[in-house]
Amino acid sequence: MPASRSPAQPPTPSPAPPPAAAPREPGAVPVADYADSSPRPVPAPSVTVSTPAKPSAEPTDAPRLSVERLNAYFGASCAVHNVSVLLPDRFVTAIIGPSGCGKSTLLRCLNRMHETLPLARVEGQVLLDGQDIYGRAVNVTAVRQHVGMVFQRPTPFPTMSIRDNVAAALLTAGDRPSRARTDEIVERALRRTALWEEVKDRLRDSAVGLSGGQQQRLCIARALAVEPEVLLLDEPTASLDPISTQKVEELVYELRRDMTVVIVTHNMQQAARVSDRTAFMLAGELVEVAPTTTLFTTPRDSRTEAYITGRFG
Ligand SMILES: Nc1ncnc2c1ncn2[C@@H]1O[C@H](COP(=O)(O)OP(=O)(O)OP(=O)(O)O)[C@@H](O)[C@H]1O
Ligand SMILES: [Mg+2]
Repeated sequence: MPASRSPAQPPTPSPAPPPAAAPREPGAVPVADYADSSPRPVPAPSVTVSTPAKPSAEPTDAPRLSVERLNAYFGASCAVHNVSVLLPDRFVTAIIGPSGCGKSTLLRCLNRMHETLPLARVEGQVLLDGQDIYGRAVNVTAVRQHVGMVFQRPTPFPTMSIRDNVAAALLTAGDRPSRARTDEIVERALRRTALWEEVKDRLRDSAVGLSGGQQQRLCIARALAVEPEVLLLDEPTASLDPISTQKVEELVYELRRDMTVVIVTHNMQQAARVSDRTAFMLAGELVEVAPTTTLFTTPRDSRTEAYITGRFG
């Protein structure tokens, strides 16, 4: 990890000058796309941004996930309205916005978890590598294997050991590796979440004996064991202490080397620390998505500006 952008350190005071305005074609697609429009300086940003995570926060490859005109309902109530957004591979995209604006609902639509809730319904498309995950012949279990999810509260299986919690994902995925191979996968997943050294001597102990922060990293390890292409994190540090939060943030930083990460957070400093791109939602709509530095310094929408400067939300 480059020393210049360690999540362990507080963000440095806004070092980046406003980027040059990206030209927008007349009649450009009405999606929150990769391009920025003319930046306006924000009077008094309440969030300072770390140095950019990548040489360019503008992705060049095809997006890993492409959300197109997505609506998500609970009965007649529309929780996510007409959202279109591209989620590039090997980027961390943060989703911010006030409580109830639809962040978790949008996240759940990305791996078909939304439809597991009562009266829930989805319209629109979510393309994973170009394939609509809501297509007729799609195997929902396979979708959730490719697009893993971790929730706000740690959800270890309480009757299982630490080892079996991680290995459980392999069974759900229909994979039945040998015991030795399973042990290898478990160790690798626990090492990736920096939990191995803490639990290697108690793998057979119950997972509920772990601290909250350890349980959350165990749940991330469980999601990683099946090698997903995308990891969805819904306020993963909301119930954690600062040290555990730092470990999870460092993990997120590492994960984007080889996967797509989408993280919902109420903590704008966290979004600034860990994400390459940030999306702002309000009342079910995606207001804008931009490189994180841009969104926190020169948002193009006055509602984003009001939110990041603390004038509402
Ligand atoms: N299971 C449910 N049944 C009915 N309505 C729901 C359900 N879950 C969420 N909603 C509603 O959908 C809207 C979006 O909720 P959602 O949980 O996605 O918001 P959020 O942005 O994640 O909020 P928070 O920051 O508080 O977690 C809200 O109006 C909420 O009341
Ligand atoms: Mg939520």
